[in-house]
Amino acid sequence: MSTENLADRLGRIDDYVAHLFRSDDPALAEALAGMEENNLRRINISPNGGRLLYLLTRIAGARRVLEIGTLGGYSALWFARAVAPEGRVITLEADPRHARVARASIDRTELAGNVEVRSGDALGTMDAMIEGGEAPFDVIFIDANKDGYPRYLEAALQLSRPGTLILADNVIRDGEVIHPAAGEAEQRAVHQFNARLAEDPRLEAIILPTIGRGFVDGIALARVRPPS
Ligand code: SAH
Ligand code: DHB
Ligand code: MG
Repeated sequence: MSTENLADRLGRIDDYVAHLFRSDDPALAEALAGMEENNLRRINISPNGGRLLYLLTRIAGARRVLEIGTLGGYSALWFARAVAPEGRVITLEADPRHARVARASIDRTELAGNVEVRSGDALGTMDAMIEGGEAPFDVIFIDANKDGYPRYLEAALQLSRPGTLILADNVIRDGEVIHPAAGEAEQRAVHQFNARLAEDPRLEAIILPTIGRGFVDGIALARVRPPS
């Protein structure tokens, strides 16, 4: 057994996989550069996470993707690559500055026509989408404020069809979600979200552990079942 500590070993393994499957897509580099220039927090999905989203979207044969939480557009561009040239990504962002940075980065790429950034609180936008008959989506990715996850799941189900793939980032948070304390609203909400994924008869799901910067996180995968 290695004497290297676990965090270092995980980091090295994640780097190995990232290097093996690295992408030279200038669109993704644009998004990261745009985030850097505008001092956005680097809480985008990792390169390995992005490739996972991309592959799952390809496997699902998706044409319509909904993302909750845009930031600088990095994950949105992974989805756009997966659905191009015909498909469409709608990504929801509450912070108008983030939405502007993402739009500008996306507009510098060939994928500009495949992505729509909608500003505003995601739950309100999702309600309007349900009312406006914009369902169904083939893939829905939840990655905004963690205390909203249970409500985003309910809205996502209303924007789904049987077979829709619902994904969510940050569902482990180094194990903090397992036994959250009373005051930890985000951890408690994600704990509840995970329990619902496991229990809801409309879904079949699993959580894949992922490697963050020095900690373990997770991505949830759920498939919407046909009505029984
Ligand atoms: N998916 C992005 C990262 C998203 S970070 C990527 O991997 O590249 C989370 C984003 O959710 C932030 O930009 C934050 O402003 C946004 N957000 C937070 N609360 C929100 C809300 N209520 N509605 C929509 N977006 C929200
Ligand atoms: C945070 C949000 C994320 O979506 C993420 O992947 C990592 C961190 C955060 O709000 O701290
Ligand atoms: Mg995230």
